[in-house]
Amino acid sequence: MRIDIITLFPEIALAPLRESIIKRAQQANIVEIYAHNLRDWTTDKHRKTDDYLCGGGQGMLLKPEPIFAAIEELRSESSRVLLMTPQGKQFTQSKAQELSASDHLILLCGHYEGVDHRVIDTLVDEEISIGDYVLTNGAIAAAVVTDAIVRLLPGALGDERSHQDESFTDPNLLEAPSYTKPNDFRGMKVPDVLLSGNHAKIEQWKSEQAKKRTLDNRPDLT
Ligand code: ADE
Repeated sequence: MRIDIITLFPEIALAPLRESIIKRAQQANIVEIYAHNLRDWTTDKHRKTDDYLCGGGQGMLLKPEPIFAAIEELRSESSRVLLMTPQGKQFTQSKAQELSASDHLILLCGHYEGVDHRVIDTLVDEEISIGDYVLTNGAIAAAVVTDAIVRLLPGALGDERSHQDESFTDPNLLEAPSYTKPNDFRGMKVPDVLLSGNHAKIEQWKSEQAKKRTLDNRPDLT
């Protein structure tokens, strides 16, 4: 898979992807990740990427010309172009799974008040939001989306089983609590059932706890 991120802040997008699992996935040629500065596709003296809103209104909008030039240069037949924007569809684990089957993703990062709508009408396959809050720029969202997708690629996680029980594999259930040693830490004990060796009982306990945690933390999923 190849991922191209187009942003005014390539370092913000790339920094979190240079460590740990995503770094190793790149070293193992499981994925190629590039971040490009949108300003490199400007043609004017001031390398201007934004402008005032037509019809008035607060703030600035990303201009269409450099974005069209960047995407036209980077895309191919198999590319999927995603715009990072709080106006997008909510990014979920199942969307990460769907996108992990792509050959080539182009992640376009919004900034200021967003992008000229002709970009969305003509170039963008899907608008993606990582949550109901507004970030300073879409490069942070692009790093989040890239991380969630890349860790799903075959071979990216050392232990393939670690995908299996995690939260959102079932989109309506969070993971059960988990514990490690010591069995007694400052008087707080690991639940007896987890030390019992009775796998049927342990699975039943995990299933009950997962439901309880979901009800407590994410009643919207139940
Ligand atoms: N840019 C700013 N806020 C965002 C969000 N919540 N999701 C995606 N891109 C964004």
